[in-house]
Amino acid sequence: MRTPTPEPQAVSTPITRSAIFIVATLTPGAEHANTVRAWCADIAALVRSIGHRVPAGNLSCVCGFGSGAWDALFGAPRPASLHPFREIGSGARVAPGTPGDIVLHIRANEMDLCFELATQLLGRLGDAVKVVDEVHGFRYFDQRAMIGFVDGTENPAGREAADFTVIGEEDGEFAGGSYVIVQKYLHDMTGWNALSVEQQERIIGRTKLSDIELDDEVKPSWSHSSLTTLVEDGKEVKILRDNMPFGRPGAGEFGTYFIGYARSPAPIEQMLENMFVGRPPGNYDRLLDYSRPVTGTLFFVPSADLLEALADRAAPAASTPVR
Ligand code: HEM
Repeated sequence: MRTPTPEPQAVSTPITRSAIFIVATLTPGAEHANTVRAWCADIAALVRSIGHRVPAGNLSCVCGFGSGAWDALFGAPRPASLHPFREIGSGARVAPGTPGDIVLHIRANEMDLCFELATQLLGRLGDAVKVVDEVHGFRYFDQRAMIGFVDGTENPAGREAADFTVIGEEDGEFAGGSYVIVQKYLHDMTGWNALSVEQQERIIGRTKLSDIELDDEVKPSWSHSSLTTLVEDGKEVKILRDNMPFGRPGAGEFGTYFIGYARSPAPIEQMLENMFVGRPPGNYDRLLDYSRPVTGTLFFVPSADLLEALADRAAPAASTPVR
């Protein structure tokens, strides 16, 4: 009899109205590593306890680990494609790699649910981690990104979403897991709003009000949608995104928190290459003339079963460095 595929974490969930994105680094030391390992077994129970109080709130949490953190906390075996985020681009257009050992992607319809779960999860970690970035995202009108265009339309759904995001036999020990890349983008809204709607539509590759893809004859090869469309052996390769707007109007901060899941980092990295360097080089994504990433990190998301089991892993050899 075949062993069933391990249960993935809540990577593919219905769209929610709120999210909290947390990126944290590990505090060096064996005691802190023990705390983080033990915490892996607590996450699911905390989501159940808090989520059950508001069933319609759709509370969920995805937890991932960076390359250095995996080695420091769990050692071998390690996920086949886990590596530190590779900086992409040069000059004015760079997707920087920034520190991050643990990511938490907390989603719910109401922010109070996200807030409570973040508080409980971080409370248990205490000094074992240092939060280096925390973003509270909200859904903007009819699923629009901060730049006013509907976001997420071309996401895969149902079985297709699982096919594109869940690791299978290619890395059997880590089946049921995923990879996730996060990037925090800040927008020049003054520059963006100075463009005509037609110019903005050519940059995205879709109409603004009705969210319909531009015809091939008018859609530029440098549009965001063209450069993020990957075709391999005649078949489209997709990723699963759940970007969220965030910001502080009083501080002039207007942002998009990009989060992309896939069963390998390669398609997300290829999309970034197309956007930042261009396809062909120089034919880059004009959205980047108005949007700048200030963070960028790659994580491995273990299956829900593995996440719980990681709590029982023995500490790797003491000589393993944190990064
Ligand atoms: C400033 C950050 C970003 C914003 C505001 C943004 C916004 C959008 C919008 C409005 C669309 C069209 C609707 C749809 O979702 O299908 C779109 C499509 C898409 N975006 Fe982004 N995006 C951003 C960054 C990224 C990044 C960094 C990637 C990948 C590394 C990416 C990958 C995609 C993909 C794969 C599509 C679907 C293309 C298609 O099949 O037509 N996006 N994005």
